[in-house]
Amino acid sequence: MRIVVLVSGTGSNLQAVIDAIGAGRLPVEIAAVGADRPGTLGVERSAAAGLETFVIDFKTFSTRGEWDAALLAAVARYAPDYVVSSGFMRIVAADFIDAFPGRYVNTHPALLPAFPGAHGVRDALAYGVKVTGCTVHFADAGVDTGPIIAQTAVAVLPEDTEESLHERIKLAERSLLIRVLADLAAAPGLWCGNKQDDGGNHQ
Ligand code: GAR
Repeated sequence: MRIVVLVSGTGSNLQAVIDAIGAGRLPVEIAAVGADRPGTLGVERSAAAGLETFVIDFKTFSTRGEWDAALLAAVARYAPDYVVSSGFMRIVAADFIDAFPGRYVNTHPALLPAFPGAHGVRDALAYGVKVTGCTVHFADAGVDTGPIIAQTAVAVLPEDTEESLHERIKLAERSLLIRVLADLAAAPGLWCGNKQDDGGNHQ
């Protein structure tokens, strides 16, 4: 199974996937890693692992449509089985979703549909929930929407800060992402995103 991983930030989830592949625990090939900005730790991790790395720098495009088209072309070039948004903080265009139907997987640090968006951990903490977690789902053109593949709950501790809670969520998130990718590699197309086909229960 060939994947393209998209990152915006530190790429710790990406690193976990790289490590799992290196340890022989994940029968997946990372065809390339793409980013929306240069100079991030995620890009550095990718290059350090010897992976093909491309940057479609959002700031260098004069229109959103041109950036959308460039991202789609860059990813499509690798003909991946799945595209994994792992901390990729951009909503992709409908054309992108159409190009990879049921094959665009996103991770999110909250129990969707609760607390979507760029500040899922902060928002959960501010609301005062006692349990939050992480979600891996098939993404559509919305903000952290689309059929849920799997989730892990994480308890919120009284002393938690956004950082401490996010670190604990990321531990769960890495395991969850690797488990989902392993399941998809074992049975490609198992989750087609159509809940009526399989009952929608992937736990
Ligand atoms: C992860 O927790 C991921 O779920 C989150 O960004 C973090 C990236 O961490 N994504 C979102 O919030 C998407 N809405 P990383 O760059 O260290 O892997």
